Formats: sequence, C-alpha cells, structure tokens
Amino acid sequence: MKKVGIIGLGEYLPRRVLTNADLEKMVDTSDEWITTRTGIKQRRIAESNEATSDLAIKAAQKALADAKLLPENLELIIVATITPDMPTPSTACLVQVGLRAKNAACFDIGAACAGFVYALSVAQQFIATGTYKNALVIGAEKLSAVTDWKDRNTCVLFGDGAAAAVVSEVQTGGILSFHLGSDGTRADLLKIPGGGSRIPASSESLEQRLHYLKMEGNEVFKLAVTIMAEAALAAIQKAGLELKDIDLVIPHQANIRIILAMAKKFGLPQEKVYLNIEKYGNMSSASTITALCEAVKEGRVKKGDLVLLDAFGAGLVWGACVIEW
Ligand code: ACO
Repeated sequence: MKKVGIIGLGEYLPRRVLTNADLEKMVDTSDEWITTRTGIKQRRIAESNEATSDLAIKAAQKALADAKLLPENLELIIVATITPDMPTPSTACLVQVGLRAKNAACFDIGAACAGFVYALSVAQQFIATGTYKNALVIGAEKLSAVTDWKDRNTCVLFGDGAAAAVVSEVQTGGILSFHLGSDGTRADLLKIPGGGSRIPASSESLEQRLHYLKMEGNEVFKLAVTIMAEAALAAIQKAGLELKDIDLVIPHQANIRIILAMAKKFGLPQEKVYLNIEKYGNMSSASTITALCEAVKEGRVKKGDLVLLDAFGAGLVWGACVIEW
C-alpha cells in the first residue's frame, strides 16, 4: 500500500456576511444568546445565483494551484455535500465541467458534517491501492438554501462555504488512520424531511416547510460530545498513538460548547484545538476542511505535526482521521 496525504488545499467562502445583529432583525434572537450558546458571531451566505458547485469549483481551483497540478491530472473527484445543486447529476460531475478535469471519475458522498472525513477515507483507498494517482476531495455546502429563516432554533447555526484537498501519494507522513461510524436509529434527530422519495415536493410539503433542515438540537448536542470523543480516541489508537501525541485537533465546528466540552473531557489545552466557528458557523461537510485549510495557512500546522480531524453529523454519522503533516 502507498502512503497517502494531502498535497494541496484551497477554500472559498462567499463574500456576503450575515451577522448576529442581522439575524436579530429576522427572528426573535439576540447576539448575546447566539454567542454564548453557540460561539457563532457571523456566517457567510452565497448569492442567489451561486450553487454548491460554484463554491466547490472556486475552492478546487485554489487547491489545484496549491498542489501545482493541472485539472487533467485528476482521476477522481469526490464532493461531500448535503446541498447538491440538484439530486442528479452529482455535484462532482458539475465540478468536473467547471474545472475541465476530463479524466476524472466523479461522485458525491452524503455524510452530513462528517462528509469530508468520509470522502477523504474513500479517496485514500483509491490512492493507496495505486488505482488512481491524484484525487480531489471537496466539502461544499449552500446550507442557506435549506435553512428555515423563520426558525430561530436552526437559522442562527448554519453558513455556506467550500474547501478542497488534493489527495495523492506522499513519501513521508500522510494519513495514518481513520475511524468511521454511523447510527441510523437516530436519523430523526437531524433531517430534511421533504424533497426525497418519501415526501416528494408538493404544495403541501412546501406549506409544511418540510424542505428545511430540522434538528433536535439538545439531543444532538449530548450525543455529539460523547461520540466525537470516542471517534477521536479510536482513530488515535488505530494510528498507534496517544492523545498527548496530537499537535492540533480540528473538530467539526457545530457549537463551541460541544468542542470545549470535548476538550475538557480530554484535558486538552485550548491551544491544541482549532476554532473558526465564530466566523463561519456550521458549514456541515465544508467545516472541517475549511478549518484545516485555515490552520495550515495560519502556520498552526507545520511539517511533521500530527493533526486529528473529528466530525459528527446527521445520520447519525461520525468520522475521525489522524494525519501526519
Ligand atoms: N435565540 C434565542 N433563543 C433561542 C434560540 C435563538 N436563536 N434558539 C433557541 N432558543 C431558545 C429555545 O426556544 C429555548 O427556550 P425555552 O427554554 O423557553 O423553550 C432555549 O433557547 C433553550 O433551547 P435549547 O434548544 O435547549 O438550547 P441549547 O442550549 O441546546 O442550544 C443548540 C441549542 C445551539 C442548537 C444546541 O443544542 C446545539 O448546538 N446542538 C447541536 C448542533 C449540532 O451539533 N449539529 C450537528 C451537526 S448539523 C448537521 O449535520 C447538518
């Protein structure tokens, strides 16, 4: 098996900023409530004529430039998203066209907030076995399109964005381990009930606002802390490491209280935990990869560092991954 690593990164966040003060004018909420309960101060919102693939293409172009590769060098494109441009074709195929990556096989993965970690694990198999040389893995979401802007329980939480990683063979370091898991018995906790084959779009489904994200936040919160901690430890153990060896934990950015509760459980100092939730909110599959991009750009991740990605979301699904940078 070949060693597999990330050789290029890129992100794209839409320019439009929606602040907590803006939300105060839309629903019965306050900057104080949102900040103390979630850690979010603002989020990015895509334009009405921008779809998930548009965000993904811009992030991918940066990642390819960073990796010094041409689009035709890509043999695989995986887009992790719960907000595809449309149910079919896959958003990955639309990204292929935008990039002119004519040699790539393309598909999407739906694993909500753990989507990027899931997609990375799939790309790793193709590269490790020598099936493909270069893969592009993207986490991209336009969650504003499935957010109920009349529901204060959810609309303060989400934002839009995309980030991409070029995944290839590396000589040293790279991805050391994965731990993935799911529990479909808790599917009801977080879902978009309408628009699929169970409840196809109809005037009734629109009236009942079934095409928006619904969440039992409290229950999800409790499970997130426990499950993210277990997933992190399992991935660290599979890598033959101990928690103290990890230089930076990059958790899914859903709620600062979830992240700090996990850090406390582990006795992790805050400087070992990367946070950018304040700026972007929860971008589902785009969150962990955007955070990794920014951590690398800021010099928080250096060559040889051990980085842990740890994500959790609707499904329920979870995924953790240890990378030697
Ligand atoms: N502004 C003001 N008050 C609010 C708001 C708001 N935006 N939202 C809820 N409240 C109120 C509620 O109505 C409730 O009032 P009540 O006590 O009078 O009934 C009170 O605040 C407390 O509500 P809770 O839901 O108990 O608040 P909680 O502290 O649990 O925070 C939150 C809610 C932020 C949603 C939290 O539960 C959370 O972060 N959950 C996890 C989210 C997550 O991890 N999602 C996973 C990934 S998402 C994906 O996969 C796409």
